[in-house]
Amino acid sequence: MSIYEGYLETMTAVMDRIVHLIEENSRRHEAEHGEKLYEHLSHRIKGDDSMREKLARLGVDPTARNALRAVTDAIGLRVVCLFIDDVYENVQLLKSLPGCSVVQEKDYIRNAKPNGYRSYHMILDVETDAPDVDGHAPGHYFVEIQLRTIAMDTWAALEHELKYKKHIANPELIAQELHRCANELASCDVSMQTLRKIIREL
Ligand code: GTP
Ligand code: MG
Repeated sequence: MSIYEGYLETMTAVMDRIVHLIEENSRRHEAEHGEKLYEHLSHRIKGDDSMREKLARLGVDPTARNALRAVTDAIGLRVVCLFIDDVYENVQLLKSLPGCSVVQEKDYIRNAKPNGYRSYHMILDVETDAPDVDGHAPGHYFVEIQLRTIAMDTWAALEHELKYKKHIANPELIAQELHRCANELASCDVSMQTLRKIIREL
């Protein structure tokens, strides 16, 4: 039995709807401006094992209610953009999606995490006709959206990979080098954005 019990179907429908809305926005933007608003978009429902592991880490029982209320990233989307400006443009669009309200925003681009991690995180509350885990109809579901540039995405993927590598001989040096890479990539992101601006003005 899924940790999400009978709610899995609605969760999938909610995720597909948000993906569809973002894709539509992007198509409209491309038709008007001739440029894509993001490079790629990925989405997932957090797997059973991963959710159970997170609930255990939080010290709460493995129930559908906790999976959908104590945790806010059961439904997750990632919007990967070419340029930093595009991240913020997508954020603005997300704020105007029908049936959605912003529950939380974390700007790890302006305020990078101490390890160098950069991304813009948003948690949306999405309303749907179907009931939710509290028995309310219309129901409410959380959707976590991570927005970042390709450079930020590359760094996060590598750092994630290394984090789960056991027996690293010199973790401090690796962390220090990773942080340096994050800063170099951030500097490239700024340069690339300046290049786009110059090209546009020509
Ligand atoms: P979680 O318990 O992981 O959800 O953390 P949180 O509730 O403090 O939220 P936060 O916004 O910090 O992070 C949520 C998600 O962002 C994580 O599940 C990761 O996908 C991603 N993330 C945050 N920090 C890092 C990081 O240092 N490295 C990488 N690779 N990903 C990160
Ligand atoms: Mg979180």
